[in-house]
Amino acid sequence: MNIYLAGKTLVGLFYPLFKAVQVYDINNNVVVNAAQKFTDYAANLFSTMSSIEFVRYRDYIFFNKQRLRYEVDGYANLQFLNNLLKTQRIKSITLNRRLTQREVIDFACILKEDLALFHKEVSTRKFEHIAVEILKPDEEQDEFIEDRKALKQTYFKALKVTRNLMQNLWTGRQVDVKSSRRVIYGLVDSISHDEFGILALTTIKNFDEYTFNHSLNVSILSLALGQRIGLDRKNLARLGSAGLLHDIGKVEISKELINKIQKLSDTEWKTMKLHSNFGVREILKTRGLDETSMVAITVAYQHHWNYDGTGYPLREKADEPTLFSRIVRICDSYDAMTTARGYQPVPYLPHFALRVIWSNQNRLFDPILAKVFTQLLGIYPVGSCLELTTGEIGLVMRQNPSTIDLPMIKVIVDKNNNRIDGPIVDLASDTEMKIRRPTYPQIYGINAAAYFL
Ligand SMILES: [Fe+2]
Ligand SMILES: [Fe+2]
Repeated sequence: MNIYLAGKTLVGLFYPLFKAVQVYDINNNVVVNAAQKFTDYAANLFSTMSSIEFVRYRDYIFFNKQRLRYEVDGYANLQFLNNLLKTQRIKSITLNRRLTQREVIDFACILKEDLALFHKEVSTRKFEHIAVEILKPDEEQDEFIEDRKALKQTYFKALKVTRNLMQNLWTGRQVDVKSSRRVIYGLVDSISHDEFGILALTTIKNFDEYTFNHSLNVSILSLALGQRIGLDRKNLARLGSAGLLHDIGKVEISKELINKIQKLSDTEWKTMKLHSNFGVREILKTRGLDETSMVAITVAYQHHWNYDGTGYPLREKADEPTLFSRIVRICDSYDAMTTARGYQPVPYLPHFALRVIWSNQNRLFDPILAKVFTQLLGIYPVGSCLELTTGEIGLVMRQNPSTIDLPMIKVIVDKNNNRIDGPIVDLASDTEMKIRRPTYPQIYGINAAAYFL
């Protein structure tokens, strides 16, 4: 029995049941049938599991300890369950053997009530085979104060390995392939454990180390996007290293040209574009021809290919970029737009960069991936600075998957322009605070990344 699939299926069966009890009388056939399907499937699971447990933690749903990913397929069902548990402040629901159809219907009925009534019903009514754990006051806030040490370690380890890898290639020294593999799996694990946590670290944009930071950020963004579309661990690892190596061909181009601030001449631009071709050679140099390097070679060669057939290197009409190349194409553009560089001293605000991606779907970017990417980062990506209607400044800490225009923020500047260690506010909850507009953290002397470290 695949626990992951079982969880997804059960979530999928719960949704119609909940909808049915909202509309119909509890004895209506639609309700009874939906409940029957749910209990039948659960009964089947109980042949191998003693109990079934759904836990909500930081907008993630865990089914018997396995995190259910937000994938295109089943996204709405999972989002719905997350929302429901969030509104009713439910930490976990456990279903036990011999769960009856009646219980399932009764429980669905009280779930649709408002918070106060639901809490009253759940504490007074006896459900023999359903146990509910309610969040303690402030428990949700505490989730933020967890130890970020491991995440930070993964990021900086990865940065170190990326720097070594590129520097060794620059100077023609031997490359340590093993350590980069370890690092990639570290990133894959971080993404699957807490996607928003590691995504927040991509706000680290080190001007002096642009190439290393950029490579790592593209790798992380690609992993997050790859996870959303349901790639397995092995393919995520391939995608992660392809993201890391996409610009590796730049080691064959002089640093003067790469760091040039002035507008490039036609010849210089031509040389610059060759990094896609050089990438193939550099990757071949470092590793044999295994599946991972084949993927990385393809991505390095195709990452400037556009969805509409344009881009470089020149290609035959029939040549289409692979899925991995299309993923990296988006993440590469996003990170490049949002980073300050010699010829782009003022970067795009994250929400604006997303808009550029959105409006260039079909032309530059795969439209479906562009949609999933926007969904993943939200309207205001983690690390964005927001001017609030209260006159304060907030930093986006985390997305609300269901309300992507209302993220969770931390107040970091007060009304009088003083830097403060303010509260974390969920803009999706009942609050006076509204977003006025996104703003540049630099105006307030803020280094967004520092808040995530
Ligand atoms: Fe590139
Ligand atoms: Fe790039």
